Amino acid sequence: SIPLFTSVAAFRQWREAARRDNKSVGFVPTMGALHDGHMSLVRRSLAENDLTVMSIFVNPAQFAPHEDLATYPRTLPRDLEVLEAQSVFVPSVLSSGPTVRTPSAVFLPSVQEMYPSGIDQDPAVQKGTFIEVKGYGHQMEGKIRPTFFRGVATVVTKLFNAIEPTNAYFGQKDIQQCLVLKRLCRDLLLSHPDPEHLHIVPTARDPSDNLALSSRNAYLSPEGRKLAPTLYRALKVAEQAWNEGQQKAACVERATDVVQQIVSPGASDDLQIRLDYIEFNDSHDLEPLEGTRCIQPGSQPVILSGAMWVGTTRLIDNIVLGTI
Ligand code: PAJ
Repeated sequence: SIPLFTSVAAFRQWREAARRDNKSVGFVPTMGALHDGHMSLVRRSLAENDLTVMSIFVNPAQFAPHEDLATYPRTLPRDLEVLEAQSVFVPSVLSSGPTVRTPSAVFLPSVQEMYPSGIDQDPAVQKGTFIEVKGYGHQMEGKIRPTFFRGVATVVTKLFNAIEPTNAYFGQKDIQQCLVLKRLCRDLLLSHPDPEHLHIVPTARDPSDNLALSSRNAYLSPEGRKLAPTLYRALKVAEQAWNEGQQKAACVERATDVVQQIVSPGASDDLQIRLDYIEFNDSHDLEPLEGTRCIQPGSQPVILSGAMWVGTTRLIDNIVLGTI
């Protein structure tokens, strides 16, 4: 079965052996509760690297005190089964024949291992070292979660230092996370991975209704699950309006209308719908687009993103306009 490493020291020995053997190492960081979105990153990594490492660590620093750290789904035995069952067929390259690759290692650190100085849920009393990508964490998702990207940037820097990946894979589902981390690699002059080797993998969706796969979808009631795909439908309507040349405000209005249609004031608590935001942001600096701005040839791609509550579950999704 797949080797599990709970300490950085033990993992480093494995990593050293991989280096001696000249093997490339792909890395997929996760918080577990694996679904096919996570596995699409694993498949990419298997196809592009000799060895693939997944980390599973529910990172306290990215949960605010009122958020779902205690109840975040933890399904380790099942996660390991899913991971061990994953394989990718790699066609023959030159001298070596075709091969089947499977994940090589899992990194499962304790909170103590990742935060030797300790970690408190409350940012006001935290001590120790934190990484902040200034100017990129306050927009979009950062508006409602002001210390979220600091928590992500901190843990991912630690994970990169522990794993020293050749390539790392992140999902477009969390596009702001991808862009913050790419900037982190660039700003900190990281070489494991360097910014070009941090890859953004397209969002995996439920084929029946295009709902973006997410560990938090497990919180939805069956009826709530039926309402959840509305967020992506709304984004698609905004995308279409944008492609027709509509102004930003009109695109947002049309998308908002789509969500409004499923709002039912008399609904039970788990079916209460609330739109957090639908926004257009520049992919370069993440700032919201100005009123009449549209994509000019040569300008940065635009991120059309949104967040919507179904009861107490907060869903996010996005579409990139242009190529990222
Ligand atoms: P987690 O939510 O477990 O996601 C792990 C990775 O899977 C992230 O890169 C995320 O973008 C990707 N992912 C999630 N849903 C996806 C989908 N439907 N399609 C494609 N990729 C998807 O994101 C985190 O964990 C954490 O913030 C982490 C980076 C591990 C740091 O703690």
